[in-house]
Amino acid sequence: MQEISEEQLILDGYQQYIVPSYRRLPLVVDHGEGSYLWDIKGKKYLDFTGGIAVNVLGHSHPVVREALQQQSEKLIHCSNLYFHEPAWKLSRKIVSLIGQGKVFFSNSGAEANECLFKLARRYGESSNRFEILSFEGSFHGRTLAGIAATGQQRIKKGFGPTMPGFRTIPKAGAKEFVESLSEKTVALIVEPIQGESGVHVFPSQDLVEIREICWEKKILFFIDEIQCGLWRTGQFLAWQSLVAEKMIDQNLLPDGVSLAKGLGGGFPIGASWINSEYCNVLDEGSHGTTFGGSPLACHVALTVLEEIERKGLNKNILAMGNYLFSSLKNLEKKPQSLLQEVRGMGGMLGLELSVPSFQAAIALLERGLLVAPSSGNTIRLLPPLNVSFEQIQEAESILKHFLFSML
Ligand SMILES: Cc1ncc(COP(=O)(O)O)c(C=O)c1O
Repeated sequence: MQEISEEQLILDGYQQYIVPSYRRLPLVVDHGEGSYLWDIKGKKYLDFTGGIAVNVLGHSHPVVREALQQQSEKLIHCSNLYFHEPAWKLSRKIVSLIGQGKVFFSNSGAEANECLFKLARRYGESSNRFEILSFEGSFHGRTLAGIAATGQQRIKKGFGPTMPGFRTIPKAGAKEFVESLSEKTVALIVEPIQGESGVHVFPSQDLVEIREICWEKKILFFIDEIQCGLWRTGQFLAWQSLVAEKMIDQNLLPDGVSLAKGLGGGFPIGASWINSEYCNVLDEGSHGTTFGGSPLACHVALTVLEEIERKGLNKNILAMGNYLFSSLKNLEKKPQSLLQEVRGMGGMLGLELSVPSFQAAIALLERGLLVAPSSGNTIRLLPPLNVSFEQIQEAESILKHFLFSML
């Protein structure tokens, strides 16, 4: 009888025991180091998916490993009944990176948004406002509130009735935004760069004007930085990169920011920053989670943030990403090129192709480069912030060959 391979054993195990809710690429991973992943047969891949914008320091970074080791020897979990040092230190760091306010810790992006949604409902209660707006093409997580806020029908399909109190509006300028408001509107949530729907950068002037309108009308302005944040665009928040020169105006601070993905460098943690004006709305007993803000998660996340700052990795990813962007931009719509458009900033690039993104991701995987498919024909490049120039060149070379592979 033929012996079954280890790879086949795992594939069969998934088939038999794991809920089939994901569309997966044909890759059984074994281990990772830095910007590379190895499959179970020993083949090496350059990983520009990075756990979908999670592995900001690459795989198994020594400082992450050491932080996990040190803190787990001291204390892993203790519940939110008590106080501990890692949580206040991490919250202080996040406040210093965004602005005056407070932080609620959770475990994922969907939960970080959920906290903002609950903040909006609580805040709107006295004025009888509850409606939360979001933009077409947005993605805000897979919980019932998350899919209600998400501006993509395919994510909501089959899960009706949609949670009430959410409405998606077209991505447009300030005038259209004002027209779309209702007397019940209490908040707006925006991804400054939409990720899942194919890397679409929000025009910064529109975003600034929309923020100002929200400020005037006391509509909470939330930004979802779960994918585009964490210095991927050079600044801590993509919002800060987009509105850079106008940031001195305090009115431009958001009212809430959701973070997750890269915050723990691979260890699960979510965080919701809330502007000082509203940071006590969620008062005692109004919100909570068992695991959120554990000593282990907070210590690891603080270590990740400090490492990025210490090494100036924001500058690195901006330079590396901009190089790749310009190089690929030259290939847009070239005869026989699969590349229709390059979008994005720094370490968050989207390549819109003339073939479906899943098919492209499989073809690139076979060539040794991992990219993240997104909806439609766009693949995402989300390299770690410490990616080297040699690795960028390696990706550039694989991509260039692939883009003309239909010749
Ligand atoms: C912009 C954005 N918001 C929210 C989420 C949900 O995060 P999580 O999968 O950690 O719940 C994601 C995940 O892809 C995201 O990209």
